[in-house]
Amino acid sequence: MNNQFLLNNLRCIPDWPIKGVNFRDVTTLFKSAECIRIITDELYDLYKDKGITKIVGIESRGFVMSSAAAIRLGAGIVLCRKPGKLPCETIQMSYAKEYGIDTIEIHKDSITEDDVILLHDDLLATGGTMKAACDLVRKFHPKKVYCNFIIELQSEFPNARDIFDDDIEVTSLLKF
Ligand code: PRP
Ligand code: MG
Repeated sequence: MNNQFLLNNLRCIPDWPIKGVNFRDVTTLFKSAECIRIITDELYDLYKDKGITKIVGIESRGFVMSSAAAIRLGAGIVLCRKPGKLPCETIQMSYAKEYGIDTIEIHKDSITEDDVILLHDDLLATGGTMKAACDLVRKFHPKKVYCNFIIELQSEFPNARDIFDDDIEVTSLLKF
């Protein structure tokens, strides 16, 4: 029922940014206090017993709910950013996008071997972005890594989950 409420509030924009793409615009969820409450509650229920110490939010749409979830879960937040935005020493990971190569990075002193990490992003499409973020986080050898998305585009990218290693638990709030 809650998920239906989220679905009802999710705006889809046909042919954006290019013809043939049905763009899922999560900003219509973010502008609704009730949607934010539902997403935060669901993230809390999923991860309250996992001992999460840090949430790694993926720029930029992954930042929004990372912060609400971190407050509820009593975790810190680490920013996983596009290159050139972080001021101190970073570790980077590059990955193939549909057109060309993209890179993400996080501060070198942001994660320790004692951390239990929840990676969060708004959307699972090909999985390329989250896979790179996972690989990046694993370079720090945290105790455990979890991945969460608000939306999983299951019918469009049915094999996206296969990209993740077996020991990484992947959840999504909405699958369609
Ligand atoms: C979009 C989306 C996810 C990613 C999903 O972000 O917010 O982060 O793409 O695609 P994938 O599963 O195929 O990697 P985008 O790179 O457009 O940046 P933004 O969040 O800053 O808008
Ligand atoms: Mg994004």
